[in-house]
Amino acid sequence: MATFGGYLRLGVNIDHVATIRNARGGRFPDPVRAAQIAVQAGADGITAHLREDRRHISDDDIARLVRDIDKPLNFEMAATQEMVDIALRHKPHACCIVPEKREERTTEGGLDAAGAHNRLEPIVRTLRESGSRVSLFLEPDRAQLEAAVALGAPVVELHTGRYCELDIAGEIAERDRECGRIGDAAAYGASLGLEMHAGHGLTFETVGPIAAIRELAELNIGHFLIGEAIFIGLEAAIRKMRNTMDRARAQAAA
Ligand code: PXP
Repeated sequence: MATFGGYLRLGVNIDHVATIRNARGGRFPDPVRAAQIAVQAGADGITAHLREDRRHISDDDIARLVRDIDKPLNFEMAATQEMVDIALRHKPHACCIVPEKREERTTEGGLDAAGAHNRLEPIVRTLRESGSRVSLFLEPDRAQLEAAVALGAPVVELHTGRYCELDIAGEIAERDRECGRIGDAAAYGASLGLEMHAGHGLTFETVGPIAAIRELAELNIGHFLIGEAIFIGLEAAIRKMRNTMDRARAQAAA
């Protein structure tokens, strides 16, 4: 199951195309069209987060992504019965369980897989039995990785948000320490048999050191790519991200 030092998949998160659409209501820009362009540009999968308050992706977007996109859909969801029911209806390739608070601007912090074992266990089991690949969005923390194994989750996505925020703040030494923590967690998770992914906040500037972590099999990137699309176009932004990842991976392997 785990991929070690092999091809690094790119999942493109199209949530913020829906954010722009919803700023005016109506149908434009259409996140499904963005997903089609992302696939043409080399995305290995599409990621979409159906939030409880439907602030960006809608139920209809999920139905159309499942129907119209021939690459794997990674359905990001809170651990609620409503979202489990939607996942069971659509049977996406993958379900990534994330913490969700109504008042947050984006997903702040990872899931507490250790503290919420009893609540998460039936959800992980139900989604796995439905055939979806289940991942948990976690901080780079050994106890959380061990909790993911105890929950029977085959995949963990490591939260790179803090690493990216430290980069923006110019706190370079601490940023590099956080990158080291992500690398250590990826290696530890892989040693436990988990398939390791990472994402949140990644840019052309910050993706390289993360892509160079050989135990990672997939990165999920959204907000920066959609923003960059305003300046250079979505296809060009994704191709540039893909090339940047590949270059970092090749340099790390050399
Ligand atoms: N991975 C997870 C689990 C997320 O919740 C998000 C944000 O929706 C991302 C990756 C992508 O983050 P960003 O949009 O900042 O690239």
